[in-house]
Amino acid sequence: MSDDPIAKFKETQKQGWAYFSPLASLTTPVAGRLVKFAGVKRGQRVLDVACGTGVVAVTAARTGAKVSGLDLTPELLNAARENSQIAELDIDWREGDVEALPFGDGEFDIVLSQFGHMFAPRPDVAIGQMLRVLKPGGTIAFVTWPPELLIGASFSLVGSYMPPLPPGVSPPPQWGDPNIVRERLGNAVSDIVFDRDRMLFPALSLQHYRALIERTAGPMLKLVEMLGRNDPEKLVQFRKEYDAMILPYFEDNVVRQDYLLTRAMKR
Ligand SMILES: C[S@@+](CC[C@H](N)C(=O)[O-])C[C@H]1O[C@@H](n2cnc3c(N)ncnc32)[C@H](O)[C@@H]1O
Repeated sequence: MSDDPIAKFKETQKQGWAYFSPLASLTTPVAGRLVKFAGVKRGQRVLDVACGTGVVAVTAARTGAKVSGLDLTPELLNAARENSQIAELDIDWREGDVEALPFGDGEFDIVLSQFGHMFAPRPDVAIGQMLRVLKPGGTIAFVTWPPELLIGASFSLVGSYMPPLPPGVSPPPQWGDPNIVRERLGNAVSDIVFDRDRMLFPALSLQHYRALIERTAGPMLKLVEMLGRNDPEKLVQFRKEYDAMILPYFEDNVVRQDYLLTRAMKR
């Protein structure tokens, strides 16, 4: 593994996200919402950044758009390829990093990211790349987790149990704060629009929800692996804190979770 802390960070992310596929059934309805919110149309060139198993890319391609999907994690791209085959769609899948997009300037009409670019370590680099490959007048749209709600706050809880982030790496839930999003998009865009919607996680018990997230969400999976190996008592403490956090969101066998949608036009 490289000695560069940013490269190491990405390698750990890649390993952690390899088990994400079971959660894709829950991000599928959000993809429908995002593709409509972004106004994807037939014939447009669309990029899905950090596409995972391709739920956004496939939804966009069903409108007749010409779609590329890029992700760091090869295991998820295998699932994405299978998804486009099942849906009988031709999608350009790429293994790659949002911080170094393998596309030319202004290639896309629309650049999308669903719970994706928020995990890149350096927000300025990621957003710079997403805007670079977008045409002037094109649309950038993404979905992120607000820091004050369960998932955003749980990433902060995970962070508090992990070694400190390498210098220059920003915590993912910052992307769920409209003020920070506005600042990061800066003068490169106009017409910023925010919206919120709700995702529902069916769960037989609060512990079922926790078990699912511990097995599938990269940063959580890595923390549980580390504590299970080095400090089982701390793992018990972490789970207690996490369960208390989940409790107010769990009702009628569903964990409710609101997400932030952002859309803007590149100048
Ligand atoms: C929560 S999953 C979301 C996947 C998908 N967009 C969805 O909504 O189902 C986060 C994704 O971000 C990807 N990812 C994390 N860091 C990345 C980076 N630097 N470049 C590209 N993809 C990255 C992971 O591999 C993972 O697929």
